[in-house]
Amino acid sequence: MNRREASKSLIVAALGMALGAPSASAQPQPVRVALLGDLGEIWADREFIFAGQQALLVRVPAPGQPSSRVLQVGSIYLTAYSRTCTHAGCTVQLPDQRQMVECGCHGSRFSAAGLVLEGPAPNDLPAIRLEVRQNEIWAVAWLDG
Ligand code: FES
Repeated sequence: MNRREASKSLIVAALGMALGAPSASAQPQPVRVALLGDLGEIWADREFIFAGQQALLVRVPAPGQPSSRVLQVGSIYLTAYSRTCTHAGCTVQLPDQRQMVECGCHGSRFSAAGLVLEGPAPNDLPAIRLEVRQNEIWAVAWLDG
């Protein structure tokens, strides 16, 4: 890589960081989130920080169809996502008793699994790839990065 290419790479990386956009080339450090046994019931959740963003791990019901956002571990289904709203970057609230996640800034609503239900948010909350390592749940990468 010559100096011009190196400068271009740095500019692209800086722009990605400035926009807060997850990218495959800037994958964050894996984070240990919980023990598998910590999520005893469907809709149990754990807050954590991933790549400097507030994030949430949720035990969800079995999805009706396979989803790349959901990790199956035996009879347990898990999903994790950033709590940064895809509209303008506010931090969304935690799931309420209806299993709805609301953004207090402009009223977007998401399911407790992080799927957008009502705008103005244009997209689902960014999903985080999970792994289970010896009964520990780890957040390891942006799923779509
Ligand atoms: S920032 Fe969430 S709805 Fe606008």
